[in-house]
Amino acid sequence: MSVAEIFETMDYGPAPESAAPALAWLSQHQSRFGHFIGGAWTAPTATFPTNNPATGTELAQLSQGSAEDIAAAVAAARTALPAWRALGGAGRARYLYALARQVQKHARLFAVLETLDNGKPIRETRDIDIPLVARHFYHHAGWATLLESEFPGYEGVGVCGQIIPWNFPLLMLAWKIAPALATGSTVVLKPAEFTSLTALLFAEICQEVGLPDGVVNIVTGDGTTGAALVAHPEIDKLAFTGSTEVGRLIRKATAGSGKKLTLELGGKSPFLVFEDADLDAAVEGVVDAIWFNQGQVCCAGSRLLVQESIEARFIEKLKRRMETLRVGDPMDKVADIGAIVAPVQLARISELVQAGVEEGATLYQTTQACPTNGCFYPPTLLTGVAPASVVAQQEIFGPVLVAMSFRTPAEAVALANNTPYGLAASLWSESLNQCLELAPKLKAGTIWINGTNLFDAAAGFGGYRESGFGREGGREGLWEYLVESTPVVVPSSQASASATKEAPTLDQTAKLYIGGKQARPDSGYSRRVLGPDGTSIGLVGEGSRKDLRNAVEAARAASAGWGTTSGHNRAQILYYLAENLNYRSTEFAARIAQQTGLDGTAEVDAALQSLFVWAAWADKNDGAVHRTVQKSVVLAMPEPLGVLGIACPSAQPLLGLINTVAPAIALGNAVIAVPSEAHPLSATDFYQVLETSDVPSGVVNIVTGERDALLKTLAEHDDVDGVWYFGENPALVEAASVGNLKRTWCPKPGTLPRPDAFLRAATQVKNIWLPYTD
Ligand code: NAI
Repeated sequence: MSVAEIFETMDYGPAPESAAPALAWLSQHQSRFGHFIGGAWTAPTATFPTNNPATGTELAQLSQGSAEDIAAAVAAARTALPAWRALGGAGRARYLYALARQVQKHARLFAVLETLDNGKPIRETRDIDIPLVARHFYHHAGWATLLESEFPGYEGVGVCGQIIPWNFPLLMLAWKIAPALATGSTVVLKPAEFTSLTALLFAEICQEVGLPDGVVNIVTGDGTTGAALVAHPEIDKLAFTGSTEVGRLIRKATAGSGKKLTLELGGKSPFLVFEDADLDAAVEGVVDAIWFNQGQVCCAGSRLLVQESIEARFIEKLKRRMETLRVGDPMDKVADIGAIVAPVQLARISELVQAGVEEGATLYQTTQACPTNGCFYPPTLLTGVAPASVVAQQEIFGPVLVAMSFRTPAEAVALANNTPYGLAASLWSESLNQCLELAPKLKAGTIWINGTNLFDAAAGFGGYRESGFGREGGREGLWEYLVESTPVVVPSSQASASATKEAPTLDQTAKLYIGGKQARPDSGYSRRVLGPDGTSIGLVGEGSRKDLRNAVEAARAASAGWGTTSGHNRAQILYYLAENLNYRSTEFAARIAQQTGLDGTAEVDAALQSLFVWAAWADKNDGAVHRTVQKSVVLAMPEPLGVLGIACPSAQPLLGLINTVAPAIALGNAVIAVPSEAHPLSATDFYQVLETSDVPSGVVNIVTGERDALLKTLAEHDDVDGVWYFGENPALVEAASVGNLKRTWCPKPGTLPRPDAFLRAATQVKNIWLPYTD
């Protein structure tokens, strides 16, 4: 054989990492584990096996957590809470720092154990997962130190229930536990049933660093254990990462419970390649986007959208690159693709690919050997995929890329957004102008420009639309673990005269306000409004489902333009509203007095002040620039939610309207407001102020009627992006929101959140990663 021939046929020899340290650790525990509760291990009971997916061999027996185990863990977390809080941020920082150090010291053991348990290549656990875990604890040690000075008026939320998936077992644990501990909260964490071992090793590390008992509790088990955690009444906050389906169940189960909730769910993220992209770099990008972690990544770039002019060339390059990917023993340091986590997941992937082929897609799989024992699936490309087909719409969560093409940037955006999800997107073009023009148009929580699957503790991560809500990482993520220490109390809702359904006498009835016009209610009914002494003081329209549909349509039509107009312009309009309200302040004060029996002057003044405050904020909610450990900067851009339904507080008929509608529109949302049910006349009078203040049609819509019934309809509406509910029955709204998993915000009845809470509720942060080398 000539040297040239040897060179041509040369292959990588196996270079396996030793499993010995992990196996030794398992046998130290007789490969049987109980739960970690209150700083101690319970005896293993009701055990089930956890297997190595690369070989099918059993690694250990884990305990199936019962409702009693969950109750014991929650009680331990509750007991530990006061002392943990009292330590202060600086005290807690020491522990977070110690955890980071211990993770680093045990990095090899963690990496090997994770690979054995999950099947992901050792190269990834060693070079990506575990270093990011340590980074997360260091970063949050810093936040703990800065907590009191950076978040005055806020404190840790309390006892947190955390449920994590199997695709990044230890990394997801770090994403959940580090911010909780930094804020002075305590934790009950349930790892995924396929991959609990590194969480149990982490529990041991908590013991090693002397973390106070009960601050971190780990209960293993399947979905029923998770459901018991969700249902436990003593949990203050739930954080979940996993499937959208389970996310919906959790949203429903927690509705009205007052538990804070964050959901990080599935995705079908687009990977857009433009004709001017560096195609070789983009091919490497695809490898990282969909073949990293066998494609079992919530933000995997699983939909390749490539410009038609370069499609053939790009697909050819990609196929060539696929041929060089090595599928095999995850413990082998040269393996690019390891094992799928479990047979059930492997079957799901195969079925979905089969469905794609049956729908007409062309299948391409590498000719490279793929082990036949164990859970392996080869890198797969489906071309000729129709945008509506099952493989283009459903999350496959495997090493399967579906490819489609586009002609123009506008078409690219339309295709990219053609999914109910909104977790991430990658843009590949040498024109930063093009990328930065498209980034705001993509409905996704993270945008990577000429990059993909980049994560850092300093940058927030989380979804738009049905990919969930809330952010993890950085300052944004910390808010999810904080609550106001002393909420501002406002006058409670007066159980005043209730309105009653009346036969139509429409001419004297204050109408609804939809699309910039006064509109008669579709039902034809009106409701009588009573003064404090029970006498009739007027009639308002009885809004219905149909009126709301019209209002949502008007708001949607207005929202794109309003959301992208400058903050300066929005501020001008709010100042103009204030000016016009000021002209009529005597009339508005009299109307308040007529409805409530109280002097309305102070309320009108407060409403004017509120308009000034929100005009001030309209051009100041700037977002942030994060510096990460990668060669990137991340623009954290708050974007309006879009269309918001708002149930205004019952008391303070004018101020309740302005305090809620003004921040929503100042930040670029279009709203459908349902004013105080008992005192709606200040809102209906306000139409004239709106009409004379240049507020574009459809930005503010007002529908009077039975508040809770109207809000339920808004919460169910799939074209509403968020609902704010200032009322006494949040369960109604939260349960109704599961359809499109819209954001809901239900502040404690009788409290007025601080302005910064309004800023966060009115927006969602898009993190845009830009290459940056300094
Ligand atoms: P899953 O959503 O069922 O599991 C995630 C976690 O939730 C696990 O710890 C599980 O035990 C727990 N869980 C399950 N049912 C629960 C319930 N009713 N209440 C509380 N906790 C519950 O995900 P699964 O079945 O493992 O994977 C199915 C699909 O979900 C995947 O094919 C993928 O499409 C998606 N997925 C998405 C992830 C993400 O990071 N967004 C992670 C894992 C799966």
